[in-house]
Amino acid sequence: MTLRQRFTLLYSTFMGGILLIFGASVYILVNVILLNQVDSMLAVVVRDITQVTKVNALGELNLISLPPLDMTSNAYIQVWAPDGKLIATSPSIGTLTKSLDPAGLNAGLAIYEDSYLDGAHLRVLSVPLMLRERVIGTLQVGASLSVVDATRGNLLSIMAVIAVVAVLMSAIGSWVILGRALSPLESIAETVDQINRADDLSRRIPYQERGNKEDEIGDLVVSFNQTLERLESLFTSQQRFLADVSHELRTPLTVIKGNVDLIRRMKQADEESLSSIDQEAGRLTRLVGGLLMLAQAESGKLTLVLKPVELDLLLTEVFTEMRILAGSKLHVHLNEIDQVMVNGDRDRLKQVILNLASNAIQYTPAGGDVYLSLAKIGEQARIIIRDTGPGIPAEDLPHIFDRFYRAEKSRTRSTTSGFGLGLSIAHWIVEHHGGQIKVESKEGKGTTFVIWLGILQ
Ligand SMILES: Nc1ncnc2c1ncn2[C@@H]1O[C@H](COP(=O)(O)OP(=O)(O)OP(=O)(O)O)[C@@H](O)[C@H]1O
Ligand SMILES: [Mg+2]
Repeated sequence: MTLRQRFTLLYSTFMGGILLIFGASVYILVNVILLNQVDSMLAVVVRDITQVTKVNALGELNLISLPPLDMTSNAYIQVWAPDGKLIATSPSIGTLTKSLDPAGLNAGLAIYEDSYLDGAHLRVLSVPLMLRERVIGTLQVGASLSVVDATRGNLLSIMAVIAVVAVLMSAIGSWVILGRALSPLESIAETVDQINRADDLSRRIPYQERGNKEDEIGDLVVSFNQTLERLESLFTSQQRFLADVSHELRTPLTVIKGNVDLIRRMKQADEESLSSIDQEAGRLTRLVGGLLMLAQAESGKLTLVLKPVELDLLLTEVFTEMRILAGSKLHVHLNEIDQVMVNGDRDRLKQVILNLASNAIQYTPAGGDVYLSLAKIGEQARIIIRDTGPGIPAEDLPHIFDRFYRAEKSRTRSTTSGFGLGLSIAHWIVEHHGGQIKVESKEGKGTTFVIWLGILQ
């Protein structure tokens, strides 16, 4: 059974149940009111008659007269002697000599009863007539219940018709409304099915066009589309990543293989081939190291060991290493250096600064300058690494922290060129220290990397 059918059935059953309870209450109430009216009419007639009833000297009933006919036209009246003899009847009864309610004759107390007399449904009040504790007869007053029965019958059929119509309408209404409300679910299922069958993550659920985004299903569709978008981008980035990795792996391997073939042919290892093999093996080791680190970072397995770190000491250390790295190619300057402590992973922070510094040294042409500085600004430590290199083109700037991204100019491969992993690793480390890494660059002017870290109070 579909959700739509199930809900429609549920609503209709619920509606039917409510109508049944409501109808039964109305029916019982109307019944009680109508019977009460008849009963009180009978009581009035009985009171009127007993007021004019007299006994003679022998203590026998002497009914002088019955109340006027216009008052009793709805009522049938019989007066019975204790011996079961009919003493008097109202003209409305005609020639009937049977008791209106045989059961009420000897009851000894006033009693209302329904009775059937020759097929007619009657309500009868039987009242014993007493004279000083002695029963001297029974008065029976009856009224036809045909009007009450007809009213009850009509009420019942009207209510049955209303109930059937209402249940039908609620069934149709809920079927239509549910159809409209659930149709996005169908299109969700359809889209998911298409995605599964066609392996196409670019599909989206067409919901916004309906302009009804405010209900839960709208929210579901929006989140589902967002999930699809994320999945698609993850999927494409994974595909790109695989392609990049294989490409980066293939080049050094080709060089190594070429050199090994050459050595085999020459039957001796020349220094050039060996150093080329060595270089490429070094590149491979660096690549695998970087990949391993990113993989660990992304799977959450790379944990940072946070301890108080004296950033100024760390920066001096990097500065010394940079001077060695830069050799005579560039001038490395240490501008200002404040004493700052941060809570961080010393080795990782050093790796970040070295990554940025080695980029600066690598991409700045000979004779350029690289400036390092560390300042304490409010609650934060600010590290700046600035160079006077070629700068990064504006269209590359938003991507340089992506894995394997290299700006256009540095894409032409040389043995010294990197893999485009350094900045994404640096970005990950800084972010996981609760800090920020920013870049500013003007083509032809130079590049400035700024790292912000919260200081240890
Ligand atoms: N100081 C800089 N000046 C100019 N371009 C830079 C600078 N720093 C980074 N870039 C550009 O950003 C790109 C990405 O840098 P990243 O450090 O991530 O990779 P890489 O240096 O190419 O390789 P890796 O660091 O993995 O060996 C570089 O290829 C380069 O184009
Ligand atoms: Mg680099």
